[in-house]
Parts: sequence; structure tokens; C-alpha cells
Amino acid sequence: MAESSKIPEQAKHSSDLVDQLGSLSLDSSKAGRSDKDSPDLSETLNVEVLSSKSSSGKDNKSSTSGEDLSSESISEQGDQLSTPDEDVKKFISLEDVAAHIALDSTKNVVVIAGAGISTASGIPDFRSPGTGLYDNLQKYDLPFPEAIFVLQYFVSNPKPFYTLAKELYPDKYKPNIAHYFVKLLENEGKLLHMFTQNIDGLERMVGIPENKLIEAHGTVTTATCLKCRHKYTTTDTFIKDAIFGDKIPKCSQSKCKGILKPDIVFFGENLPDKFWNFKHIMPKADMIVVLGTSLEVEPFASIVDYCSVNTPRLLINNEVVGSFKYGGGSDFLQIGDLSDGLRKLIKHLNWDEKLSALSKQSV
Ligand code: OAD
Repeated sequence: MAESSKIPEQAKHSSDLVDQLGSLSLDSSKAGRSDKDSPDLSETLNVEVLSSKSSSGKDNKSSTSGEDLSSESISEQGDQLSTPDEDVKKFISLEDVAAHIALDSTKNVVVIAGAGISTASGIPDFRSPGTGLYDNLQKYDLPFPEAIFVLQYFVSNPKPFYTLAKELYPDKYKPNIAHYFVKLLENEGKLLHMFTQNIDGLERMVGIPENKLIEAHGTVTTATCLKCRHKYTTTDTFIKDAIFGDKIPKCSQSKCKGILKPDIVFFGENLPDKFWNFKHIMPKADMIVVLGTSLEVEPFASIVDYCSVNTPRLLINNEVVGSFKYGGGSDFLQIGDLSDGLRKLIKHLNWDEKLSALSKQSV
């Protein structure tokens, strides 16, 4: 866990900030987003934060304050779905995992992704020490790194966010092997759904169909006026011109002039309704593939546990994260670079030619 993503003491006790954060309200029937690295922020926001991961994997119960998406309800779901240990699929190699994916009966793969799938496209992730976004926000003079994604902070000072938006503007980046891999699963009739925390729109760009894509933290491709709620596409020339001209994009509706906020889920906002379908989707998964995420932000992080112990799970990441730390019987961990891991997996699947055809198509 990157030390830098913790909220500094002085920020936690800054009365201005606490006033601002304290005034945020959340729909208490749903758990709002929170960052487990920032426990004090969650408390201040009165977010229904899930408890930390259970200590022995997918089926363990742990106490929580969340209503529907509590660790407890997730664990109960796991209990209902659990099967005897002898039914647990044990993978001994990545080749073995590929063989499972290749089975005709494997048709409902759920992919769960984070910022690590876009680093090979040149977009920094959030928490990698040194290179992650939260270690590189000093120039924005924020009270704490996550403030750049805190709604009340944005309302009072949208400048840092829009300076960052200029650097990360969506049309600057192209998909990489991770996005292509998910598209290959889709082309092969094996993708049930993809849940992504990413806001860069690369999943859309590679052609993951809208009905299969759940952008849990929203997207930067559209924006909404905070005053009149008029919707915009962020590639609209006047918005792009404002961003690249170092101005705050404002609503173009007559006399409105409200600040435009990209449709990404800020801390202090609820996740899109589509996200909550995970409760129906996850139990249908015949394989869960987790790619490039620290599993540090709830409620997203806990959906990887909303399955039975015999659902095979693959993690490809630089580090072991979330409940993968507790060695579930049907988990396979490919620790290291994501592109390398996926290249090997694709080779075992004999999808190399399909991959190169896909990447040529998209250039
Ligand atoms: P993080 O930055 O927290 O985690 C990225 C994970 O990917 C880390 O475990 C990295 O080690 C790993 N990683 C990065 N590059 C990799 C590579 N090339 N190969 C293998 N692993 C790699 O990003 P998320 O988990 O997505 O919310 O963060 C979740 C949310 O926190 C984001 O959606 C964001 C942030 O607050 C927003 O506010 C937009």
C-alpha cells in the first residue's frame, strides 16, 4: 500500500476540509465509493465502507456496516454457492488455466480490471510507488492526493482536475494487449461481463460491447453540467478547446455557465446502477479474471469475492492483492508484468494470430 496515498495528518484535521467533506451526502441504501487507504476520509464522508478482506479467503465472514454489498452478504452468498473441496478446480500452471478457458463449457468469464491494464498504454496507475498518479500530484498543491477526485473539492476548485484531464485526455492513448485479450474473450463467445474501474475509455475503444461493459467508476468520455445537468460528450470541440486552453469547461446552455464535470465517480458519489448488477452476474461466472488492480477501493474490490469457492479465479498483477493473499483453492496467481503474463496465456490458448489480427485492425 503506497504510503503516499494516505491522507496527511494536517489535511485530516484541516477544519475547512472537514467542513467540506462532512457536508457530502450519500445514498445510504448503497455503499458509496471509498478508499481503504483513506480510512479517515471514509469516516468523515460517512461512507458505508466494507470491512477489510476476510482473513482466509472467499468464504469467510467478517463484520461490516454496508447494507447490500457488505462483506457479510458476500460471504453468505459464497456459503450458499460453496461446494465440497473435491470439486475445487486446482490449477498447477498457466497452461492449465488456458486449458480451462479453452473448454467449450467455459462461456461466462468475468473480467475485473483496474488501472494496471492501461499502464502499458502509457497511462499511470494510482498507487504504484513512484510512478502512480497519487505520488505525482505535488504540482497541483492538493490537501491530499485523493482530493483531486473528491466531489466537494472539485466544486470549490476544479482547476487541478482539469489540468490533469489535459494530460490524460482520452484520444491520446491506444489500447494494449490487456484490452485486446478481453476483446478476444468476447470474440470467442466467452466473455460474460467486464467490470472496470478505469475511466480512460480504452475498453470501449477496443470494442467491448456496451451491454457487457460495466464502467464502475464512470467514464471521461461524457460530462454533465453540475448546475442544469445537461449532458455533453467530452470530445465536443468547445470542451476540448477549454481543456487544452487551460480553462474550466462551462455549460453552453443559455445563461447556465455551470461547471462541467466528467461522468466519473468521485469520492462522495454513488456508483452507477449498472455496477450493482454484479450480484446477479458474479454467481454466473465460470471463471473470474482479475487484471491490474490493487483491490484497494470499495465497494468494487469486494466483487471478486462474490462467488463460490469452486469458481476458478486468475489474478495477473505485479503484486498479490485482496483475498488472493489467502490462497483460495481455485485461484491461480500470475505475478509480474501483465503484458508478459497475458502474452504467455494467449500463446497457451493459441490465440496469437487472432491477437495480431485484432491489433492490426485497431491501428
Ligand atoms: P491502483 O493504482 O490502485 O492499482 C494498480 C495495480 O496494478 C497495482 O497492484 C499495480 O501493481 C498493478 N500494475 C500496474 N501496472 C502493472 C503492469 N504493467 N503489470 C502488472 N501489474 C501492474 O489502481 P486501481 O486498483 O485501478 O478511482 O485503483 C482503483 C481506484 O482508485 C481507481 O479507479 C481510482 C483510484 O482512486 C478514481 O477515482 C478514478
